[in-house]
Amino acid sequence: MASTSRRRVLLGGAGVALGAVPARLLTGGEDPTPPADHHGHSSSAHGAGVNGPAFRGNRVDHVGNGFNPSKVLRDFDYGKVSRLPNGRVLREWEIFASDREIEVAPGVRFPAWTFNGRVPGPTLRCQAGDRLRVRFVNASAHPHTMHFHGIHPAEMDGVPGIGRGVIEPGADFVYEFDAEPFGLHLYHCHVGPLAEHIARGLYGTFIIDPPQPRPPADELVMVMHGYNTTFDAEGNQLYAVNGIPFHYMHEPIRVKRGELVRIYLVNVLEYDPINSFHLHGNFFDYYPTGTRLEPSEYTDTVVQAQGQRGICELRFPHPGKYMFHAHKSEFADLGWMGFFEVTP
Ligand code: CU
Ligand code: CU
Repeated sequence: MASTSRRRVLLGGAGVALGAVPARLLTGGEDPTPPADHHGHSSSAHGAGVNGPAFRGNRVDHVGNGFNPSKVLRDFDYGKVSRLPNGRVLREWEIFASDREIEVAPGVRFPAWTFNGRVPGPTLRCQAGDRLRVRFVNASAHPHTMHFHGIHPAEMDGVPGIGRGVIEPGADFVYEFDAEPFGLHLYHCHVGPLAEHIARGLYGTFIIDPPQPRPPADELVMVMHGYNTTFDAEGNQLYAVNGIPFHYMHEPIRVKRGELVRIYLVNVLEYDPINSFHLHGNFFDYYPTGTRLEPSEYTDTVVQAQGQRGICELRFPHPGKYMFHAHKSEFADLGWMGFFEVTP
């Protein structure tokens, strides 16, 4: 493999791919699915790409994984809601970190570190001005934190050496702060090596709704990320939205013609400096970071660095299937592509 590019490991067909994955990542250590389309090519884009075994009908075990990207899409966690004596809304969550092996592509198992057992973690949602109380329990074998984007006191920032700092295995901590500013944010672990703690799966979406809610819409969360299955910290072998590469190719996102669709788009991709989102057959209004109520752009493609995010709003005027994918063809070939299916 020495002359092979860091990304090509999974491109040469499942046999090549799995041979390169450390044995501890495979179930039972036996040779899994034989290459579905092995023509003797050592490396070409027919492997894990749209024409390859990862896309061609093979699925991962969503039940075994404990989460399904089709559900992650519209799963908003508003927490346990009550009122403080001063009348203010209090939202409380309990989030646990745990180590969990998930099947990220047919036959490829990845030892993930997760929030609440899923990748990405739960989408936490609140309204500007709410008081937030997040009890974090570290049930992982590794030290972690929860670092939220947003405005809050230093001791609630979830970084090593500040306030409570690192939360050791078996320990817990309550992060408490006010929800501000309104917009689309994220949270992630901030323990070093930071790249690995994020790349293993410790991230999620954090939405603060504006005081006057946005217009009703079919709302979707899309977290863009990858898997460095070789753990060389040099790149990713798989790319995905909401946990599983190619998922929305198998199960297109169903939306209604003419209905307002709002996508909360977040990029947490590690190891690659940039990611993107491109939609076919349509254009959308783009609200960077969701912190303003007026769009900055009307486009069909946006680019995000790690930690960038934005809201896309659109309506589909025509029924049919429309592709969306990273406008970085290599990422698309390695899992970052899907379909909207617009019903009349
Ligand atoms: Cu961590
Ligand atoms: Cu961050």
